[in-house]
Amino acid sequence: FAFTPANQAWAEAQITKYPEGRQASAIIPLLWRAQEQEGWLSRPAIEHVSEMLGMAYIRGLEVATFYFMFQLQPVGEVAHFQICGTTSCMICGAEDLIEVCKERIAPKAHQISEDGKFSWEEVECLGACSNAPMAQIGKDYYEDLTVDGFRAMIDEMAAGQVPVPGPQNGRYASEPLSGLT
Ligand code: FES
Repeated sequence: FAFTPANQAWAEAQITKYPEGRQASAIIPLLWRAQEQEGWLSRPAIEHVSEMLGMAYIRGLEVATFYFMFQLQPVGEVAHFQICGTTSCMICGAEDLIEVCKERIAPKAHQISEDGKFSWEEVECLGACSNAPMAQIGKDYYEDLTVDGFRAMIDEMAAGQVPVPGPQNGRYASEPLSGLT
């Protein structure tokens, strides 16, 4: 693994933001950038980042395995769906969304669809409970999902479109922040 020249320069700049001896604090942004570059975090990627920060690989791995935003195996090329399965989402239909994933993507979590485009997993609460059920793709939240809407969303993505993130029924749990509409 090697960062692209632009990502390498960006990573080196991040490291300089921390005091001497505290470079390890840059681990999360660097791992995230490596994941954005490759789609997931391979062992060589974690090794590279750990080495840049003067850390043992095992310490880098500890961080990468602690947060479920990091993917430790390849994911679908177009989207990896993280479906919240915690209480509010479960009550509001998360299990039905997971059934759609099993039918439409792959029978098991972390398997990649036959066309290579999608993968999925169930995750714990993502903090958007008032707009349950919801799914996260990368940094984006898709909330107030319905089974039909979710199926349509997968079809749109398979056709190369990017559905607009946010509440899929237009409902906000509170007044939208300015500029968020
Ligand atoms: Fe699903 Fe909190 S329970 S976002």
